[in-house]
Amino acid sequence: MAERIFGKIKENVRLDIDHFILKVDVFRHIEIKPGQFFMIRAWEDIPVLNRPFSVFDYKDNIIQFFIKIKGKGTELLSKLKIDEEIFLLGPSGNGFQNCENYLAVGAGMGIAPINYTSTIFNLETIYAVNTHVSYMNFSDSEFNVWTLDGTSGEKGNAIDAIKKFYNNKIHKGIIACGPEKFLEYLIKFCKEKNIPLQVSFEEKMACGTGLCMSCAKKVKDDIIKICQDGPVVRY
Ligand SMILES: Cc1cc2nc3c(=O)[nH]c(=O)nc-3n(C[C@H](O)[C@H](O)[C@H](O)COP(=O)(O)OP(=O)(O)OC[C@H]3O[C@@H](n4cnc5c(N)ncnc54)[C@H](O)[C@@H]3O)c2cc1C
Ligand code: FES
Repeated sequence: MAERIFGKIKENVRLDIDHFILKVDVFRHIEIKPGQFFMIRAWEDIPVLNRPFSVFDYKDNIIQFFIKIKGKGTELLSKLKIDEEIFLLGPSGNGFQNCENYLAVGAGMGIAPINYTSTIFNLETIYAVNTHVSYMNFSDSEFNVWTLDGTSGEKGNAIDAIKKFYNNKIHKGIIACGPEKFLEYLIKFCKEKNIPLQVSFEEKMACGTGLCMSCAKKVKDDIIKICQDGPVVRY
């Protein structure tokens, strides 16, 4: 259940010009399901809203977030220093469930919730990005790296990678997170091939607690609140 948690920055690791890993010490054990997220705040009044981030990794009371700088909120988070205070609301959402022996796929920033889930379920994992990034080895997990331009790992997009790696004698389904277009294609692909799929969606969020409807999304002919009924949807 979501709770209010005060933590302190353990480490803030800058990976490149607009990516960083924020390690937050929460000083006690928290039950976090893979694929869950926290609403985060480390400022006074502006920006008004907390910002949602998936759990990238979690052990020994330290929660890690892998973050791309987008606007004001992420810029402020990127500047936090060791021992500064941070407010977390969560863990929220449903998370990935029963995905033993699934193939895990993170496209771009979609690797954030996938990384923690792969670690917990020990999944074979594809990390697909446009081009080589300097921080390919930023996780304890081993990824099958795919780049669109072939500058690292194998050449191709996330769908090419899935076509190559998915083996219905080994894999029981796919879990994925990434850009909306990729997820839309993947949903169709898995439906055609009869492959069980769990997808983590990102929607703009205001409250993050099911009260405001700002994260409402049409999914399988239903309107759901991504912060509460998601972010993971099973197909
Ligand atoms: C469930 C969930 C998990 C996420 N996990 C991660 C993660 O692990 N790493 C990461 O870098 N980003 C993640 N995001 C996206 C991240 O929340 C936004 O990039 C961030 O809120 C942008 O804030 P900002 O103030 O820097 O940018 P601004 O553009 O100033 O933000 C303006 C408003 O738009 C919202 N917003 C902007 N982009 C997004 C987006 N893509 N998704 C949702 N809300 C958005 C902000 O929350 C804010 O309310 C996640 C989003 C969701 C919904
Ligand atoms: S963000 Fe308010 S209901 Fe989901």
